[in-house]
Amino acid sequence: MTQLTFTTERSSNLVSDIEREQILSDPGFGTTFTDHMVTATWTAEHGWHDAVVREFGPLQLSPAAAVLHYAQEIFEGMKAYRHEDGSVWTFRPEANAARMARSARRLALPELSEEDFIASLTALVQADEKWVPAYGTGETSLYLRPFMFASEAFLGVRPAREVTYSVIASPAGAYFKGGLKPVSLWVSQDYARAGDGGTGAAKCGGNYASSMAGQIEGADHGCDQAVFLDSATHTYIEELGGMNLFFVMKDGRLRTPALTGSILEGITRDSILTLAKDLDLEPVQERIEIQEWKDGVVSGEITEIFACGTAAVVTPVGELRWDGGSAPSGSPEGGGEVTRAIRSTLLDIQYGRATDTRGWMTRL
Ligand code: PLP
Ligand code: COI
Repeated sequence: MTQLTFTTERSSNLVSDIEREQILSDPGFGTTFTDHMVTATWTAEHGWHDAVVREFGPLQLSPAAAVLHYAQEIFEGMKAYRHEDGSVWTFRPEANAARMARSARRLALPELSEEDFIASLTALVQADEKWVPAYGTGETSLYLRPFMFASEAFLGVRPAREVTYSVIASPAGAYFKGGLKPVSLWVSQDYARAGDGGTGAAKCGGNYASSMAGQIEGADHGCDQAVFLDSATHTYIEELGGMNLFFVMKDGRLRTPALTGSILEGITRDSILTLAKDLDLEPVQERIEIQEWKDGVVSGEITEIFACGTAAVVTPVGELRWDGGSAPSGSPEGGGEVTRAIRSTLLDIQYGRATDTRGWMTRL
């Protein structure tokens, strides 16, 4: 149900064409932002209102805003892709809208309808259309970051009665600088990302805060990322701080950890499970022990391992390290054949090079 009408107040302080083109030629990830942003307000009295596209800039926030104290916040991550004919599209926004609504329920925040969620993306991308990188410039896109937080100034612990929704956009290249160089992973024994009954399946800021100590531990051991295990037994593989994991098996199975409630339900993960059959792979969702990883890469049962997510797309996973040991790389240099096939199948749909037979793309 639509509740919001987005009005656009065009910024008079635009980044120059030259500067923007310079940024788009090598955008990195998450460091530069477009000219505009979306904001909307929800209050317990009036529901959602005041939806506006306005100049990108600082938000006014009371130091007592509940989000700063109790982390009542959720977000989404998606991308706008330029197709060869110049049109701009996004991938499965209904799935992001549904996940944001699930996250909102878990974090006691108000839900935004699918229509309003997609309208907010359309409004921002139309205002900042020039910021969507040109077709054919590699893996570049405009990363869209919708988020919602408790903006009420109140220090009591209860769901906020005033909430802000916002969308910002940031031109994005590859998430990992090494391109298809396999990333090394650290198995965190001391830290879990999420636990039973917690917020692991929600896309809330707190999950990322809790993943950082494990990430630092990994970096201290020379690894690119940390892989988190289940918090109860430290036996089963869950996911990375910002990506899901897949294992390509010698027998043609494509395995990924089952959704246990503490893993984020990745939209890339779900799409890959759907695409697997087209690639003659048998998708399997089940609990996978970390010991199986160690044994599988040695015995050759596991032929490739990759991580996936909106920001990282499909990234080969290399060596696994833990306190006192390591296992050989889970992927050949540059990624294995299956990893590369899945990656290009997905990118071809997203960039409009392959027919979108499942209705996954939405024009913005
Ligand atoms: N797992 C976590 C913790 C994430 O932050 C993300 C990124 O959004 C993913 C998995 C992958 O999700 P998606 O494919 O929807 O981007
Ligand atoms: C994404 O892939 O969109 C993510 O949210 C991962 C990370 C950048 C937080």
